[in-house]
Amino acid sequence: MFFKKKMQHDYDLDMHNIPGHIAFIMDGNGRWAKKRKMPRTYGHHEGTKTIRTLALEANRLGVKAMTVYAFSTENFKREASEVEYIFKLPKEFFNLYLKELMENNVQIRYIGHLEMAPIETQNIIKEAIQRTSVNSGLILTFAFIYGGRDEIVEATKVICEKYKNGEISLDDMTEDYFEQHLMTKDLPPVDLMVRSSGECRLSNFLPWQLAYAEFIFDETLWPDFDEEHLHRAIAIYQGRERRFGGVLK
Ligand code: IPE
Ligand code: IPE
Ligand code: MG
Repeated sequence: MFFKKKMQHDYDLDMHNIPGHIAFIMDGNGRWAKKRKMPRTYGHHEGTKTIRTLALEANRLGVKAMTVYAFSTENFKREASEVEYIFKLPKEFFNLYLKELMENNVQIRYIGHLEMAPIETQNIIKEAIQRTSVNSGLILTFAFIYGGRDEIVEATKVICEKYKNGEISLDDMTEDYFEQHLMTKDLPPVDLMVRSSGECRLSNFLPWQLAYAEFIFDETLWPDFDEEHLHRAIAIYQGRERRFGGVLK
């Protein structure tokens, strides 16, 4: 489903049907910058503001978890200078917003291969996780150096090792058991996936977890995505009929 920006609309949200977990593919930073004849990195810089805006609003609405795709395992194919710039953004983001996120009771987490990031980036993210671990509001998870296929392969390896050591039998291998080995094991199920910038693909984001999520593809470029776009996405979600393979009475 496609939507053009920009609207001035009050969406009448059903507060009893707010998605518990929203996953965002934050796409379109480069095109946003290009339109302004600016370097791609400027788009990434502006895109971080959207994370803050949406996290605060999602928290206010009572969303339990929000996961943002910040860097994919495939994004290493980009120019080294762009990759280096993106790896510096967590420092900027948390310097600017950690205090406010703390005040709003937001918890920070990450999924992905943090160990592949520069040590300073690792430390900044770990500190934010540790400092916010006492909070009980929105769980804001950064998928950072994350790849969905990689996550599944890694989980499979751990389980194979357990099988080889005789810790489990084949009958123990259920969907629930497998899920407990994914990086998202402590997060609620994803109800809604929103991708900005009009691209209609997953790009290796949460392939297992999105099996029964609702998808919304919005044409808005990520730095332009704001509270109103979030409200619209939730309103569309609330208009969907989730059947999970069953038949509604
Ligand atoms: C998303 O914006 C951010 C990352 C992938 C890190 P892009 O950088 O993909 O922006 P476009 O798609 O080139 O416009
Ligand atoms: C997906 O966006 C990755 C992130 C948003 C971090 P990409 O811009 O990398 O995806 P493709 O290359 O268009 O599929
Ligand atoms: Mg892109």
